[in-house]
Amino acid sequence: MADVARAANVSTGTVSHVLSGARAVRPETRERVEAAIAELGFQPDSVARALVRRRTQTIGMVIPDVTNPFFADLIWRVEQALATVDHALICGSSGNDPDREHRYLQSFLERRVDAVIVGVAGGENLEFLRSVGKETPTLFVDRVIAEDGWDSVRCDNTAGMALAVDHLVGLGHRRIALINGEPGLPTTTEREQAASARLAEHGIQLMSASTGAFTLESGQEQGRALLAAPRVPTAVCAGNDLLAMGMMRAVVEAGLRVPDDISAIGYDDIDYAEYASPALTTVRQPVRDIAREIVRLVTERLAGYSGTARHVTLVPELRVRSSTGLRP
Ligand code: RIB
Repeated sequence: MADVARAANVSTGTVSHVLSGARAVRPETRERVEAAIAELGFQPDSVARALVRRRTQTIGMVIPDVTNPFFADLIWRVEQALATVDHALICGSSGNDPDREHRYLQSFLERRVDAVIVGVAGGENLEFLRSVGKETPTLFVDRVIAEDGWDSVRCDNTAGMALAVDHLVGLGHRRIALINGEPGLPTTTEREQAASARLAEHGIQLMSASTGAFTLESGQEQGRALLAAPRVPTAVCAGNDLLAMGMMRAVVEAGLRVPDDISAIGYDDIDYAEYASPALTTVRQPVRDIAREIVRLVTERLAGYSGTARHVTLVPELRVRSSTGLRP
């Protein structure tokens, strides 16, 4: 910066103002500084800048499973939204393993990230998360554990499952089963409770509820188990789209048809849902809006907001496609 200042015949302070855009600089002075920067091939030192500003312009995000397109899409959209506010994203996938989650969070803190975004692996790291939250602005996404101190963004699981149940009941289904993700996760529990409660409002009992993992393979396994039972459901509600697609594979394997023999409804509306065969009816989580809200809350914290925690709950929507039909 001293070299640039000398070449442009200005102070280092002026060079700094041109680089940061923090203060107005006369256009002709700015041009001289920019010309000197170009001539000398000056590159700002982000480490030095971080030390001065006490900001690294990086945000750490740890999500449960990067192979799940819901989270891959979320990362992509958060990354894009952060870029518009001059922040880079570093990201880790915990694989639903609290130890991995812990290690990622630790390494984000060592890298002095400006904020942390967490989709919790389970909840075992609560004590550690509390200490992270004291040091660095922390936001929960998707899986929100009962903790009022931090901002959170999620989509309404109760409303989402109600949409799925109402759709199936509206098609005449009464024998409805639920296949679901890892037991004990907030998402799994909330979706089961919501499905069961909404069915009860219709005077129907959930036929069965199984758990496994939020994956294609688990959907196929849980689907096979359902089809092997003495009473087979006419419709299956899945905890996410991957489960629903795996389940549809099990139906075809058994020589049955979706939706003629069994209807299937997913959750998320990942890009592949529309391309599944048959195209998957599902509950859409607005990932783009989730990402936008995350970045809004984080940016406000970084700008100095220190008030009480904000909890944003977004509204899901039903996407009716071809995997659901009238009760056989
Ligand atoms: O964690 C698994 C699921 O929870 C995802 O597929 C998405 O539905 C999220 O909310």
